[in-house]
Amino acid sequence: MSKPSVFITRKWPASVEAKLQILFDATLNATDRPLSADEFRSALQQYDAVCPTVCDAFPADVLTVPNKRCKILGNFGVGFNHIDIQTAKAEGLTVSNTPGVLTESTADIAMTLLLMSARRGAEGDRIVRAKQWHGWCPTHMLSTDVTGATLGLIGFGRIAQAMARKAHHGFGMKILYFKPTPADPALVHNLQAERCETIEELLTTSDFVSLHCPGGPDTKHLINAERLKLMKPSAHLINTARGDVVDSQALIAALTARTICGAGLDVYENEPHLHEGFLGLDNASLLPHLGSATLNTRTAMGEKVIANLVAFFEQGEVLDRVV
Ligand code: DGY
Repeated sequence: MSKPSVFITRKWPASVEAKLQILFDATLNATDRPLSADEFRSALQQYDAVCPTVCDAFPADVLTVPNKRCKILGNFGVGFNHIDIQTAKAEGLTVSNTPGVLTESTADIAMTLLLMSARRGAEGDRIVRAKQWHGWCPTHMLSTDVTGATLGLIGFGRIAQAMARKAHHGFGMKILYFKPTPADPALVHNLQAERCETIEELLTTSDFVSLHCPGGPDTKHLINAERLKLMKPSAHLINTARGDVVDSQALIAALTARTICGAGLDVYENEPHLHEGFLGLDNASLLPHLGSATLNTRTAMGEKVIANLVAFFEQGEVLDRVV
Protein backbone atom coordinates (compact mmCIF):
# COMPACT_ATOMS: atom_id res chain seq x y z
CA MET A 1 0.00 0.00 0.00
CA SER A 2 1.36 3.43 -0.87
CA LYS A 3 2.20 5.84 1.91
CA PRO A 4 0.00 8.93 2.42
CA SER A 5 1.43 12.02 0.76
CA VAL A 6 2.20 14.84 3.19
CA PHE A 7 3.15 18.43 2.39
CA ILE A 8 5.16 20.39 4.97
CA THR A 9 4.98 24.14 4.42
CA ARG A 10 8.16 25.20 6.30
CA LYS A 11 11.42 23.66 7.47
CA TRP A 12 11.07 21.50 10.63
CA PRO A 13 13.81 20.21 12.99
CA ALA A 14 15.96 17.59 11.22
CA SER A 15 14.94 14.61 13.37
CA VAL A 16 11.23 15.09 12.68
CA GLU A 17 11.81 15.69 8.98
CA ALA A 18 13.75 12.38 8.88
CA LYS A 19 10.84 10.61 10.60
CA LEU A 20 8.32 12.19 8.21
CA GLN A 21 10.29 10.80 5.27
CA ILE A 22 10.22 7.29 6.72
CA LEU A 23 6.52 7.25 7.57
CA PHE A 24 5.06 9.21 4.65
CA ASP A 25 5.64 10.25 1.10
CA ALA A 26 6.72 13.62 2.47
CA THR A 27 7.41 16.82 0.52
CA LEU A 28 9.53 19.20 2.59
CA ASN A 29 10.45 22.87 2.17
CA ALA A 30 14.25 22.60 2.32
CA THR A 31 14.85 26.31 1.69
CA ASP A 32 12.19 27.37 4.23
CA ARG A 33 10.77 29.84 1.72
CA PRO A 34 7.38 31.32 2.78
CA LEU A 35 4.79 29.97 0.35
CA SER A 36 1.99 31.82 -1.47
CA ALA A 37 -1.77 31.30 -1.33
CA ASP A 38 -1.60 29.70 -4.79
CA GLU A 39 1.03 27.24 -3.58
CA PHE A 40 -1.23 26.31 -0.64
CA ARG A 41 -4.18 25.82 -3.03
CA SER A 42 -2.10 23.55 -5.20
CA ALA A 43 -0.86 21.61 -2.13
CA LEU A 44 -4.49 21.05 -1.06
CA GLN A 45 -5.15 19.59 -4.51
CA GLN A 46 -2.08 17.34 -4.60
CA TYR A 47 -1.47 15.91 -1.11
CA ASP A 48 -3.40 13.77 1.40
CA ALA A 49 -2.23 16.00 4.27
CA VAL A 50 -0.97 19.56 4.43
CA CYS A 51 0.92 20.72 7.53
CA PRO A 52 0.90 24.51 7.92
CA THR A 53 2.14 26.63 10.77
CA VAL A 54 1.34 29.98 12.37
CA CYS A 55 2.84 32.06 9.54
CA ASP A 56 0.77 30.33 6.81
CA ALA A 57 -2.64 31.86 6.14
CA PHE A 58 -5.42 29.45 5.17
CA PRO A 59 -8.48 31.70 4.67
CA ALA A 60 -11.70 30.63 2.96
CA ASP A 61 -10.46 31.47 -0.55
CA VAL A 62 -7.58 29.02 -0.10
CA LEU A 63 -9.56 26.28 1.66
CA THR A 64 -12.39 26.27 -0.91
CA VAL A 65 -10.11 25.47 -3.85
CA PRO A 66 -11.91 22.82 -5.97
CA ASN A 67 -10.78 19.21 -6.42
CA LYS A 68 -9.07 18.88 -3.08
CA ARG A 69 -7.18 15.69 -2.32
CA CYS A 70 -6.26 16.87 1.17
CA LYS A 71 -8.25 15.44 4.08
CA ILE A 72 -6.31 16.81 7.05
CA LEU A 73 -4.45 19.98 8.05
CA GLY A 74 -1.90 18.85 10.64
CA ASN A 75 -1.09 22.23 12.15
CA PHE A 76 2.41 22.66 13.58
CA GLY A 77 1.45 24.81 16.58
CA VAL A 78 -1.25 25.12 19.18
CA GLY A 79 -2.82 28.37 17.89
CA PHE A 80 -4.93 28.02 14.76
CA ASN A 81 -6.23 31.52 14.07
CA HIS A 82 -4.37 31.49 10.73
CA ILE A 83 -6.84 28.84 9.52
CA ASP A 84 -10.51 29.65 8.82
CA ILE A 85 -11.80 26.82 10.98
CA GLN A 86 -15.49 27.15 10.03
CA THR A 87 -14.62 26.89 6.34
CA ALA A 88 -12.23 23.99 6.97
CA LYS A 89 -15.07 22.17 8.72
CA ALA A 90 -17.57 22.98 5.97
CA GLU A 91 -15.05 21.65 3.42
CA GLY A 92 -14.83 18.36 5.34
CA LEU A 93 -11.24 18.90 6.44
CA THR A 94 -9.96 17.61 9.77
CA VAL A 95 -7.68 20.06 11.58
CA SER A 96 -5.31 18.98 14.38
CA ASN A 97 -2.91 21.04 16.53
CA THR A 98 -0.12 20.51 19.10
CA PRO A 99 -1.32 21.42 22.61
CA GLY A 100 0.68 20.60 25.74
CA VAL A 101 4.20 20.42 24.36
CA LEU A 102 4.97 24.14 24.13
CA THR A 103 3.54 25.17 27.49
CA GLU A 104 6.74 25.60 29.48
CA SER A 105 8.84 27.20 26.74
CA THR A 106 6.13 29.75 25.97
CA ALA A 107 5.65 30.53 29.66
CA ASP A 108 9.44 30.93 29.92
CA ILE A 109 9.33 33.56 27.16
CA ALA A 110 6.46 35.35 28.90
CA MET A 111 8.58 35.49 32.08
CA THR A 112 11.60 36.60 30.01
CA LEU A 113 9.59 39.50 28.59
CA LEU A 114 8.19 40.37 32.00
CA LEU A 115 11.72 40.57 33.42
CA MET A 116 13.08 42.41 30.36
CA SER A 117 10.31 44.98 30.52
CA ALA A 118 10.47 45.46 34.29
CA ARG A 119 14.27 45.67 34.49
CA ARG A 120 14.81 47.45 31.15
CA GLY A 121 16.94 44.58 29.85
CA ALA A 122 16.73 45.27 26.10
CA GLU A 123 17.27 48.99 26.63
CA GLY A 124 20.36 48.32 28.77
CA ASP A 125 21.78 45.99 26.13
CA ARG A 126 21.31 48.70 23.46
CA ILE A 127 23.06 51.28 25.66
CA VAL A 128 26.09 49.04 26.23
CA ARG A 129 26.40 48.16 22.52
CA ALA A 130 26.10 51.83 21.52
CA LYS A 131 28.98 52.65 23.93
CA GLN A 132 26.63 55.00 25.76
CA TRP A 133 27.25 53.49 29.19
CA HIS A 134 29.37 55.88 31.22
CA GLY A 135 29.61 53.82 34.40
CA TRP A 136 27.56 52.84 37.45
CA CYS A 137 25.70 55.57 39.26
CA PRO A 138 22.94 55.48 41.89
CA THR A 139 20.18 56.75 39.63
CA HIS A 140 21.06 55.08 36.33
CA MET A 141 18.25 53.13 34.62
CA LEU A 142 16.09 52.66 37.68
CA SER A 143 13.36 50.12 37.08
CA THR A 144 10.51 48.10 38.57
CA ASP A 145 10.67 45.28 41.15
CA VAL A 146 9.33 41.93 40.00
CA THR A 147 9.60 39.96 43.24
CA GLY A 148 6.42 40.35 45.28
CA ALA A 149 4.55 42.29 42.56
CA THR A 150 1.06 41.36 41.32
CA LEU A 151 0.71 39.45 38.05
CA GLY A 152 -2.68 39.49 36.32
CA LEU A 153 -3.30 36.77 33.73
CA ILE A 154 -5.99 37.20 31.08
CA GLY A 155 -6.90 33.65 30.11
CA PHE A 156 -5.94 30.84 32.47
CA GLY A 157 -5.12 27.85 30.29
CA ARG A 158 -1.96 25.74 30.30
CA ILE A 159 0.51 28.50 29.43
CA ALA A 160 -0.96 31.03 31.86
CA GLN A 161 -0.91 28.42 34.62
CA ALA A 162 2.73 27.57 33.88
CA MET A 163 3.64 31.26 34.00
CA ALA A 164 1.71 31.63 37.26
CA ARG A 165 3.71 28.75 38.80
CA LYS A 166 7.03 30.31 37.77
CA ALA A 167 5.97 33.77 38.92
CA HIS A 168 4.45 32.69 42.23
CA HIS A 169 6.86 29.97 43.35
CA GLY A 170 9.95 31.56 41.77
CA PHE A 171 9.36 35.27 42.27
CA GLY A 172 6.83 35.38 45.09
CA MET A 173 4.33 37.17 42.86
CA LYS A 174 0.69 37.49 43.77
CA ILE A 175 -1.45 35.90 41.05
CA LEU A 176 -4.74 37.29 39.72
CA TYR A 177 -6.54 35.74 36.80
CA PHE A 178 -9.50 36.46 34.59
CA LYS A 179 -11.43 33.69 32.91
CA PRO A 180 -15.19 33.39 32.60
CA THR A 181 -15.44 30.44 35.02
CA PRO A 182 -13.44 29.75 38.21
CA ALA A 183 -10.30 27.58 37.84
CA ASP A 184 -9.69 24.21 39.51
CA PRO A 185 -9.71 24.82 43.32
CA ALA A 186 -6.53 22.76 43.91
CA LEU A 187 -4.64 24.86 41.38
CA VAL A 188 -5.98 28.10 42.81
CA HIS A 189 -4.96 26.97 46.29
CA ASN A 190 -1.45 25.99 45.17
CA LEU A 191 -0.92 29.38 43.54
CA GLN A 192 -2.92 31.34 46.10
CA ALA A 193 -4.51 32.83 43.00
CA GLU A 194 -7.51 35.13 43.02
CA ARG A 195 -10.07 35.36 40.24
CA CYS A 196 -11.12 38.79 39.00
CA GLU A 197 -14.76 39.07 37.97
CA THR A 198 -13.89 41.34 35.04
CA ILE A 199 -10.92 42.20 32.83
CA GLU A 200 -11.31 45.79 34.04
CA GLU A 201 -10.81 44.74 37.68
CA LEU A 202 -7.67 42.80 36.73
CA LEU A 203 -6.24 45.71 34.72
CA THR A 204 -6.67 48.22 37.53
CA THR A 205 -5.07 46.01 40.21
CA SER A 206 -2.13 44.33 38.43
CA ASP A 207 1.49 45.46 38.24
CA PHE A 208 2.04 43.14 35.27
CA VAL A 209 -0.68 41.99 32.87
CA SER A 210 0.05 38.94 30.73
CA LEU A 211 -2.21 37.87 27.86
CA HIS A 212 -3.02 34.18 27.36
CA CYS A 213 -6.24 34.10 25.37
CA PRO A 214 -6.58 32.65 21.86
CA GLY A 215 -6.44 34.95 18.83
CA GLY A 216 -9.34 35.41 16.41
CA PRO A 217 -12.41 37.60 15.93
CA ASP A 218 -13.67 37.15 19.52
CA THR A 219 -10.51 38.57 21.10
CA LYS A 220 -9.45 41.10 18.42
CA HIS A 221 -8.37 44.32 20.19
CA LEU A 222 -9.51 42.98 23.55
CA ILE A 223 -6.84 45.33 24.90
CA ASN A 224 -7.81 48.67 23.39
CA ALA A 225 -7.25 52.34 24.28
CA GLU A 226 -10.03 52.32 26.86
CA ARG A 227 -8.69 49.27 28.67
CA LEU A 228 -5.08 50.45 28.51
CA LYS A 229 -6.20 53.58 30.37
CA LEU A 230 -7.25 51.38 33.29
CA MET A 231 -3.72 50.03 33.84
CA LYS A 232 -1.50 51.60 36.49
CA PRO A 233 1.09 54.07 35.10
CA SER A 234 3.72 51.77 36.64
CA ALA A 235 2.31 48.63 34.98
CA HIS A 236 3.68 46.47 32.15
CA LEU A 237 1.76 44.56 29.47
CA ILE A 238 3.13 41.20 28.27
CA ASN A 239 1.82 39.53 25.11
CA THR A 240 2.86 36.03 24.08
CA ALA A 241 -0.63 35.09 22.86
CA ARG A 242 -1.54 36.65 19.50
CA GLY A 243 -0.78 40.11 18.16
CA ASP A 244 -4.31 41.08 17.27
CA VAL A 245 -5.46 40.73 20.88
CA VAL A 246 -3.89 44.18 21.38
CA ASP A 247 -4.68 47.32 19.37
CA SER A 248 -1.11 48.21 18.30
CA GLN A 249 -1.83 51.89 17.75
CA ALA A 250 -3.45 52.24 21.16
CA LEU A 251 -0.52 50.47 22.83
CA ILE A 252 2.03 52.66 21.02
CA ALA A 253 0.10 55.74 22.18
CA ALA A 254 0.04 54.48 25.80
CA LEU A 255 3.77 53.66 25.76
CA THR A 256 4.63 56.99 24.14
CA ALA A 257 2.56 58.97 26.65
CA ARG A 258 3.86 56.70 29.44
CA THR A 259 0.36 56.07 30.70
CA ILE A 260 1.75 52.56 31.18
CA CYS A 261 5.39 51.88 32.00
CA GLY A 262 6.35 49.22 29.49
CA ALA A 263 5.38 46.33 27.24
CA GLY A 264 7.03 43.02 26.42
CA LEU A 265 5.85 41.62 23.11
CA ASP A 266 6.52 38.33 21.32
CA VAL A 267 3.58 38.57 18.90
CA TYR A 268 2.23 41.35 16.66
CA GLU A 269 -0.58 42.30 14.39
CA ASN A 270 0.36 41.49 10.78
CA GLU A 271 3.54 39.53 11.64
CA PRO A 272 6.34 39.93 10.70
CA HIS A 273 5.47 43.50 9.63
CA LEU A 274 4.91 44.94 13.06
CA HIS A 275 3.78 48.55 13.43
CA GLU A 276 6.85 50.77 12.89
CA GLY A 277 5.78 52.83 15.91
CA PHE A 278 7.11 50.13 18.26
CA LEU A 279 10.65 50.37 16.89
CA GLY A 280 11.57 53.72 18.43
CA LEU A 281 10.11 53.00 21.86
CA ASP A 282 12.66 52.24 24.58
CA ASN A 283 9.88 50.99 26.85
CA ALA A 284 8.86 48.24 24.41
CA SER A 285 10.82 44.96 24.62
CA LEU A 286 10.37 43.16 21.32
CA LEU A 287 11.00 39.50 20.46
CA PRO A 288 10.37 37.78 17.09
CA HIS A 289 7.66 35.24 18.11
CA LEU A 290 10.07 33.01 20.05
CA GLY A 291 7.55 31.46 22.47
CA SER A 292 8.03 27.84 21.40
CA ALA A 293 11.48 28.32 19.86
CA THR A 294 13.59 25.73 21.66
CA LEU A 295 14.90 22.72 19.79
CA ASN A 296 13.20 20.32 22.21
CA THR A 297 9.86 22.07 21.96
CA ARG A 298 9.87 22.41 18.18
CA THR A 299 10.88 18.74 17.93
CA ALA A 300 8.03 17.77 20.26
CA MET A 301 5.62 19.84 18.16
CA GLY A 302 6.75 18.00 15.03
CA GLU A 303 6.37 14.65 16.82
CA LYS A 304 2.84 15.62 17.82
CA VAL A 305 1.89 16.48 14.23
CA ILE A 306 3.29 13.10 13.15
CA ALA A 307 1.30 11.28 15.88
CA ASN A 308 -1.87 13.03 14.69
CA LEU A 309 -1.22 12.12 11.05
CA VAL A 310 -0.48 8.49 11.92
CA ALA A 311 -3.67 8.26 14.02
CA PHE A 312 -5.67 9.86 11.22
CA PHE A 313 -4.39 7.64 8.43
CA GLU A 314 -4.42 4.42 10.51
CA GLN A 315 -7.54 4.87 12.65
CA GLY A 316 -9.44 7.71 11.00
CA GLU A 317 -9.21 9.86 14.13
CA VAL A 318 -6.73 12.43 15.42
CA LEU A 319 -5.41 12.85 18.96
CA ASP A 320 -5.67 16.65 19.06
CA ARG A 321 -8.75 17.62 17.10
CA VAL A 322 -9.59 21.26 16.40
CA VAL A 323 -12.40 20.28 13.98
C1 DGY B 1 1.65 28.38 18.53
O1 DGY B 1 1.91 27.17 18.57
O2 DGY B 1 0.52 28.77 18.35
C2 DGY B 1 2.74 29.33 18.78
O3 DGY B 1 2.37 30.64 18.62
C3 DGY B 1 3.97 29.00 17.97
O4 DGY B 1 5.01 29.37 18.82
